Amino acid sequence: MQASESGNAQAEVEAVDRVIRARKTSKLMLEPDNKGESAVVWTEEQAKALRTMVEGAAWAPFHKRADEQVHRQGVLDSVVPWRFHVLEPAACRSLMQFLQRQSDNQPDSKWSRAWQSKIKNMLAACGALVQATWLPDPGAEGQSPELSANNIEHIAASGAAIQNLLLAAEARGWSSYWSSGGILRDEEVFDHLGIGRNEVLLGSLFLAPAVVTDSKLIPGGLRDQRGPVEGWARWVTLAD
Ligand SMILES: Cc1cc2nc3c(=O)[nH]c(=O)nc-3n(C[C@H](O)[C@H](O)[C@H](O)COP(=O)(O)O)c2cc1C
Repeated sequence: MQASESGNAQAEVEAVDRVIRARKTSKLMLEPDNKGESAVVWTEEQAKALRTMVEGAAWAPFHKRADEQVHRQGVLDSVVPWRFHVLEPAACRSLMQFLQRQSDNQPDSKWSRAWQSKIKNMLAACGALVQATWLPDPGAEGQSPELSANNIEHIAASGAAIQNLLLAAEARGWSSYWSSGGILRDEEVFDHLGIGRNEVLLGSLFLAPAVVTDSKLIPGGLRDQRGPVEGWARWVTLAD
């Protein structure tokens, strides 16, 4: 290897290490207004960057193919065991309005409770929402997916794809937040977004290229609780 190549490699190593450590949960919250316009500025460049990030996520490792009959007959026919459903700001805003309509029409329901939660504030502040799902193997009708060896590997691979997306966002200076989703995992929300009911939400990923004025930023609650490596890794030594 040439000296300059080795210098580049070192810079790349440092950049990757930096991005891994710098990735953090940034929950951006904004009070929705009623002006009918998104507070988020969304450029073609940002849309292109998002597409590159989403494409890059697919380079996660995966071990088992998604079931052909159940998960690969539609437009999204890849063998990878996850699906990403990407909402740019206009779609996020429209989703927010859908949630508000549901809440207005059905007081004292899961919708009105959801409208009282922070979901609307997250939708108002984000640049993009990625609904990341994993694809369970077919099981017994009406039952939750079992934690079979295959399904565990599907979830693990899907988590790796999500982490790729978060790292790609961090490298570009975007903020990111992996949320369990709350009402966004509801079947009726899936229907509204065209997500198959046989998919399972692994994360609602809120991404933002820039912090919107007046938004509040809340860090991850467990950010500082990891402790040193000795608390979760051991180097195994064995006698010959
Ligand atoms: C599967 C998963 C689901 C999560 N869901 C939520 C959530 O619903 N609400 C939340 O505040 N944080 C959620 N988080 C983010 C964690 O709170 C966050 O990662 C943790 O506090 C560590 O902070 P850090 O990401 O900044 O290192 C989730 C993270 C993962 C991996």
